[in-house]
Amino acid sequence: MFSFLALLSVLGLAYAGTTTLTVPGKPPPGCATLDRAPVALSFEFYEFPSYFTNVSNTETCMKHLHDVSGVWPRIRIGGTSQDYSTYVPSLDPYIVYSVPDPATLAKNITFGPRFIDLAESYPGTVVMGLNRGGDNLNNTIEAAVAIEKRMHNLQAIELGNEPDIYAALNFPLTSNSGYNLTTWTPETEAHSESTWQLAVTSPLAQPNIIQAGNLEQPPSLYNASNLIKYEDPLALETVKTFSHHNYPQSTYFADSVNLEALMKHQNIVENVGTFKTDVEVARSVGWEYVFGETNSVSGGGSPLISPLFGTAIWLLDYVLQAATINIKRTYLHQCTIETCWYAFWDRENVNAPFYGAFVATYVLAGGKYISSLDDGTSNYGGYVVFDEGGKQLKLVLVNSDYYTNGTRGVERFVIEGLKDGWVRGRRLTAESALSKVSEGNLPTFGGRWFESDCSIAGREEVEVVKVEGGKAGFEIAASEALIVDLC
Ligand SMILES: *[C@@H]1O[C@H](CO)[C@@H](O)[C@H](O)[C@H]1NC(C)=O
Ligand SMILES: *[C@@H]1O[C@H](CO)[C@@H](O)[C@H](O)[C@H]1NC(C)=O
Ligand SMILES: *[C@@H]1O[C@H](CO)[C@@H](O)[C@H](O)[C@H]1NC(C)=O
Ligand SMILES: *[C@@H]1O[C@H](CO)[C@@H](O)[C@H](O)[C@H]1NC(C)=O
Ligand SMILES: *[C@@H]1O[C@H](CO)[C@@H](O)[C@H](O)[C@H]1NC(C)=O
Ligand SMILES: *[C@@H]1O[C@H](CO)[C@@H](O)[C@H](O)[C@H]1NC(C)=O
Repeated sequence: MFSFLALLSVLGLAYAGTTTLTVPGKPPPGCATLDRAPVALSFEFYEFPSYFTNVSNTETCMKHLHDVSGVWPRIRIGGTSQDYSTYVPSLDPYIVYSVPDPATLAKNITFGPRFIDLAESYPGTVVMGLNRGGDNLNNTIEAAVAIEKRMHNLQAIELGNEPDIYAALNFPLTSNSGYNLTTWTPETEAHSESTWQLAVTSPLAQPNIIQAGNLEQPPSLYNASNLIKYEDPLALETVKTFSHHNYPQSTYFADSVNLEALMKHQNIVENVGTFKTDVEVARSVGWEYVFGETNSVSGGGSPLISPLFGTAIWLLDYVLQAATINIKRTYLHQCTIETCWYAFWDRENVNAPFYGAFVATYVLAGGKYISSLDDGTSNYGGYVVFDEGGKQLKLVLVNSDYYTNGTRGVERFVIEGLKDGWVRGRRLTAESALSKVSEGNLPTFGGRWFESDCSIAGREEVEVVKVEGGKAGFEIAASEALIVDLC
């Protein structure tokens, strides 16, 4: 112990404490099952063609997610701009819009068949977000028919983005197919969804294709339970999955722009925990529950939080925590290119949040079950992923203590329940929680990093640790995570 402490002080580190966690030998009863590709991306509707044809990092970075897991990440195309979009079958370009003021979103958007074909050419599955807010039901039906006909990789169709805030967005207050938006309630929303689901799916070959919900407000206000209660039972049969949006810094920590609060493990457990009952209700009627659009801070993110390394730690912990309560997919939103603070990449850089997504993809690759190891009451979290045969596959240890400068604390994790032998660990780290790629401070995972063109660079660093008597010790500094291969 003395030499360990002496070594830490030489390195400018401070020993904080010990966290002891036990890894079960096999998936505990009732533990969550994993989708093949739980780490997913959401692209703002009107930016989708630009991301895929005019930002080369999109293909390069997404290929890394494919290569590390064997599955192309699932995508969703949607967001606020889906409710301002009209399908024009005769339109030649992918999409036409004008943005008079770069600070505002395009509001008169038309898309044509090539937009759909571009989505069709993506090798992973796609959720398409269509327009309900604009109240042009016939056009949405026409779009849905074209999409079903042209896309072999269609996972689901959404009807409207964040309808619970239509009134706040000043959508025309006339009639939304008979509903008065100024008095929008969970019940009105359910009736509106029913009408649209039945009308849009009636000409489709597979009517059970709707990703319902797509709600923005906390699940205590708008949720799957309300839809199940108030929807037309026939409309419920069109629902395949239920999506809720979540921007924790905006809806959960409403009044603070605070990276420390965002990344704190206890807060992640609490925030994700607010969805637990709703997920169970949705599952009881056979719906998969997804975070259909999510990221750190809503409205394009915050420069004070979203691009900083702490969000890589947050994103890893958040995606894994969501998976442990059976949230099947987490679609991390990518907004307007070059003004999107939480974007995984842009033309110039591969940003810190991508490291969280890459590492989460690595952790979940080939996994079938996930379980959290801690009780969610400290800054120190642990997860175990099991394979299909119930064998321990990956161990994830997170130290979410907020580190900015000075002496960096170190938490010692004592892990029990492992198989004797040697295990290999890779560390996700950076100079501090505030490290920013655009300022030249790149994170590393297992000693490697992504260059600005998303190529992988650096010499791989793997830490080898001995397990004896089922026990091993790992030191993890503040604002760091360690991923351990268990087989
Ligand atoms: C691609 O992006 C550049 C830089 O923003 C822009 O000038 C150009 O018009 C874009 N090209 C297309 C085809 O969208
Ligand atoms: C919307 O865009 C279409 C074609 O792009 C154009 O013809 C129409 O005038 C625009 N409408 C408004 C209100 O700007
Ligand atoms: C929508 O389509 C129906 C059936 O084709 C038609 O009767 C109705 O007039 C259309 N509504 C609008 C607003 O175009
Ligand atoms: C919508 O509801 C509000 C509040 O109840 C009411 O003032 C308004 O007249 C209604 N609008 C329409 C078009 O019915
Ligand atoms: C769903 O929302 C209603 C309020 O609209 C609330 O009373 C209920 O507790 C919520 N249910 C869940 C499971 O969150
Ligand atoms: C350094 O850390 C202290 C807290 O330990 C904090 O108050 C201060 O703002 C930090 N300074 C910088 C430049 O981040």
